[in-house]
Parts: sequence; C-alpha cells; structure tokens
Amino acid sequence: MKRENLLPLSVYLHIPFCGVKCSYCAFNTYTSLDHLIVPFVEALCDEISLVGRGAGEKYRVHTIFLGGGTPSLLTPQQIGMILQAVGSSFAVNPDAEITMEANPADLTRAYCAQVGDVGINRMSIGMQSSSETELRLFDRRHDNDAVIRAVQSARQGGVRNLNLDLIYGVPHQTLETWRATLMQTLILQPDHVSLYALSLEEGTAMRAWVERGKLPSPDDDLAADMYDLATDMLNSAGYVQYEISNWALPGRECLHNLQYWYNLDYVGLGPGAHGFAAGVRYHVLRSPVRYVERMKDARDAALVYDFPRTPVTEEAHVVERDEQIAETLIMGMRLTQRGIDRAAFRQRFGSDLLDIHGESIARHAQSGLLVVEDASVRLTERGRMLSNIVLRDFV
Ligand SMILES: C[S@@+](CC[C@H](N)C(=O)[O-])C[C@H]1O[C@@H](n2cnc3c(N)ncnc32)[C@H](O)[C@@H]1O
Ligand code: SF4
Repeated sequence: MKRENLLPLSVYLHIPFCGVKCSYCAFNTYTSLDHLIVPFVEALCDEISLVGRGAGEKYRVHTIFLGGGTPSLLTPQQIGMILQAVGSSFAVNPDAEITMEANPADLTRAYCAQVGDVGINRMSIGMQSSSETELRLFDRRHDNDAVIRAVQSARQGGVRNLNLDLIYGVPHQTLETWRATLMQTLILQPDHVSLYALSLEEGTAMRAWVERGKLPSPDDDLAADMYDLATDMLNSAGYVQYEISNWALPGRECLHNLQYWYNLDYVGLGPGAHGFAAGVRYHVLRSPVRYVERMKDARDAALVYDFPRTPVTEEAHVVERDEQIAETLIMGMRLTQRGIDRAAFRQRFGSDLLDIHGESIARHAQSGLLVVEDASVRLTERGRMLSNIVLRDFV
C-alpha cells in the first residue's frame, strides 16, 4: 500500500508503576512492584511485536504515548527498548509525536537529554498545583520548586514540547490558591495545559477522608468558577482552548489525544490499557503480575491472534456502525473549535451527518446549542454547558 494511503494509528503504552500512590488517584498503578519493572519491559516489548505483526502494513503510527502510572520511573535505556520495539514492529512516521508522562521529582537534565536521545519529543508533567499545602494533601512526591526545576531540565535536555497537568475542585482549594497555580503555570510557559476536575474515585484515600468527614466534599459551584477563571486566564495568555479541558499554544495541540477525540484507531498495550482498532474496542487485563506471566507463556506457545487481540486481552467486542457513529459524535463534540468534521464523517460512514441526525441537529441549532456550518457541526458555548441535552439525541 502507498505510504499516503496508510491509516493513521496511535500507540498507547501503560506503565503501571508509581513511587507513591497519590491520595486522589485510582489509575491502574502500583507502588511496590519495582522488582517487576525489568520483566515488565520485556513483556511489553513482546506485546508490541505481537500487535505490530497483527497490524500488518495497513497502518502508519503518528503518535506514541507512554502513560501511567509514572513512565519516568523507567531508565532511559528501558524507554529506548520500548520505543525500539515500536519502531521495529510498526511503520512509524519519522516526525511522530512521542510523549511520556513524567513526575517532576524524576526529571533531571541528564535524564531528559537521554530520553530525548531515544526518541521522546514531548513530556507531560504532573504539576497538579503550586500550593505546597495542596501538594501535601495529594501525597505528591514533589514540591513547587521541583516543578520549576523539572520544566528547566526538560528544556535544557532538549525536550521542548511540554504539557502541564493541573487539578482543580479539590477540598480546601480556594479561588486564590487556584489563581496562584494558574499564574505559576503561565510563568513556566508550557506549550499545553490539561485541566482535571477532581473526581472522588472509589478506593482512594481522598474519598475515604471525605466519607469520614476529615475533608469537606468538593464544591461543584466553586469548581465551575475555577474552570471559568482558568478559561479567562489561559485564553488571555494566548492559549487556544481546543477541547473542553485542554489548551495549547497554536500548533501545539496533543495529536495523540486528538486521535481519541476523532474516534480513530489506537492500540492500547500494557496492563489495563484500552484500545479501539479495526472496529474492535478492547482492554488488557489489569494485573501486572498476570500480564508478565501470560506474555511469558505466550512467548513459548507462538500462537496467532486476530488484530488487535493478544494473549493479555481481557475483553474485546466489535463496535457496530451505529455505535461508532454515536461515539464519534460524543467524542467529537468535546472539540470546542473543530467539532465534527463533516467531510471526514461522510468519508468514514458514507452518509452526511445531517442525513442521519438532521432533525435533532436543526432543533438544537434553532435553540442556540449547536453551530452548523458546511465544514463542521459543533457545540456553542451554551451548548457545552447543556451538552447532555444535545448528546442524548445521538445515542
Ligand atoms: C497518569 S497521570 C500523570 C502522570 C504522573 N503519573 C503524575 O501524576 O505526575 C494523569 C493525570 O491525571 C490526573 N488525575 C489522576 N487522578 C485524578 C482524579 N481522581 N481526578 C482528577 N484528575 C486526576 C492528574 O492530573 C494526573 O497528572
Ligand atoms: S497521579 Fe500519577 S503519580 Fe500519582 S498515583 Fe496517579 S499515576 Fe501515580
């Protein structure tokens, strides 16, 4: 197949290790499994080569994302082995966006230079807050100075495309501490900012503290004010809000996340990772111990698997056309500026969006919730606040 006809593919790699479990976090990640890192990297490389073989020559990888967990707990050599496995198993664009998530505590100039040398060209740094009190409440491994040093180290090491993650809507957080966090963020001049509204997840320390009355419940109205403040400050500083929770300097949108919001193919590898490729949505089993064992057994068995499945796939199901259309609309409506690209929709599903949902789209356009143009359909600002009313007509 000609290079330009290859389908764009994104690769997500889940690294399930953390130095400390943060009080709010329910991700599939573990703090006392360091002894498993070496066999895990080997197992992940095996899974990469199995999936790559299954993908065949149909795809061209344009983004790779090492997420977690804390990928920065891996050595640059281990990151290099993983990227090498991707490069030898898939056709990878020479200018692919290759991101790793990092904890500020792990980033030295030498580390950043070395991961840069093995291919990392974007870093997503977990800043969370500039308030020392909030960072302590989160059980983070770093203080605000470490965030400042981490950003400098990344740039001096040559990794210049930087995202900072921030959390808002946290118990005891005030508009003033949030404003200070945003001001500190702007001083650091990241290329991209992701805002996360605190979600009190089952099984986390923070949820238990709230349930036992040791912490007040998060205040939704205050969280909404924090979101508005962030919108004003980021927009005034020249950041473009391209998705409900994501801002970027022009040209610095995260291509990997755009792949999810366009509902295009991505493979998810590593314990607990999710994927959607070749019309199949699936996830990998969650336990890193079982993951390593299964991949070891599979190495000896040398069986063939139907792409994108592997021996560590826990569940997989075919997503029918109607469901794919609904998912494409729900994900695409998160894109505040682009919305749903009507030409791409027609090419993918063989029908115009207005032929499928014309009546409800016209109704919501009439009530000021949707903007309908020749090129796209997207939510208005009011539509974003009432998005559940619009989206329920698409499912
Ligand atoms: C996988 S983590 C990022 C990288 C690295 N593990 C770190 O924390 O520094 C992705 C982001 O999700 C956000 N997050 C995790 N749990 C959350 C929760 N319960 N509510 C809101 N945001 C959360 C945090 O902002 C975190 O940086
Ligand atoms: S927020 Fe990041 S560092 Fe903290 S436990 Fe979750 S994945 Fe690990």
